[in-house]
Amino acid sequence: MVELEELPSVGEKTAQKLRDAGFADMMRLATATAKELAVKAEIGEGVAEKVIEAARKAEQIDFETAFDVMERRKEVGRINVGSNAFNELIGGGIETQSITEVFGEFGSGKSQISHELAVTVQMPLEDGGLDGECVFIDTENTFRPERIEQISAAFELDHQETLQKIHIARAFNSSHQILMAEKINELIQSGTDIKLVIVDSLMAHFRAEYIGRESLATRQQKLNQHLHTLQNIATTYNVAVFLTNQVQARPDAFFGSPTKAIGGHVLGHASTYRIWLKKGLAGKRIARLVDSPHLPEGECVFKITSEGIVD
Ligand code: GTP
Ligand code: MG
Repeated sequence: MVELEELPSVGEKTAQKLRDAGFADMMRLATATAKELAVKAEIGEGVAEKVIEAARKAEQIDFETAFDVMERRKEVGRINVGSNAFNELIGGGIETQSITEVFGEFGSGKSQISHELAVTVQMPLEDGGLDGECVFIDTENTFRPERIEQISAAFELDHQETLQKIHIARAFNSSHQILMAEKINELIQSGTDIKLVIVDSLMAHFRAEYIGRESLATRQQKLNQHLHTLQNIATTYNVAVFLTNQVQARPDAFFGSPTKAIGGHVLGHASTYRIWLKKGLAGKRIARLVDSPHLPEGECVFKITSEGIVD
């Protein structure tokens, strides 16, 4: 481990500024942009550039071979969604080092799956968990501890203990949401073993605050920044990021689905896995994998019960 003070051009004062701004480890620094670092740590952009370059050297960031990538992929953990068919559809569960996005109409099960994952991530590896804790960014005020109690009971977990390991951030607006995501770095650096970050829902505030064509570019820029933060956490700390998203009607669609996820290309490119949730008959739900780097498209059926998500 290289300490901040060991970097050339970093004195005690700069090191403190960097720590205060949440850039306490080399990887975090190495993957920052000069602009971001300059603004957040309140240092000159020139200094920021130097610091980042030094951190990259310290972390030996360079081209890597496909073998290295393969080795890192071996570290990927998977979190049980509750339904075997659902797990199979997405290659064994929600992956770490990636962003998984579910989108669908109201009541399609996005928040229910979020609650389920907040519990299952805490379970031991052999039971489909990652033995870790969870951050839940709740933008719609729909997080319900009672649901966590019920789902914990179904897995025979102590619900008090389970609740202790879910770190809730109620985001009041999009800026607050962006800020809370950035604070996750500090939480992890202080020793909390976060293995899952949930944002339910990603777009609600952005959608409400940036209305009209003229504000779209600004919205997408902010969203991009937010997604960059989340992706950074996923890769730096081997964490799974789970986002829920709303849909908009496509009255012009003659072919394909009559609805589409909001967030545009910025979000489409950021999510590694995209899953479309639909309501079926008799309380059934359908999950359709619409985008994945290495899995075929496909569908599965699951159900929401008081015990959580089941086949
Ligand atoms: P929005 O946030 O409104 O866009 O929807 P969402 O996709 O987040 O929906 P959510 O996950 O909240 O799903 C709500 C649905 O889950 C309800 O309509 C119920 O059908 C179902 N549900 C929630 N709790 C329970 C429960 O305890 N038992 C059963 N059987 N179903 C439940
Ligand atoms: Mg919801």
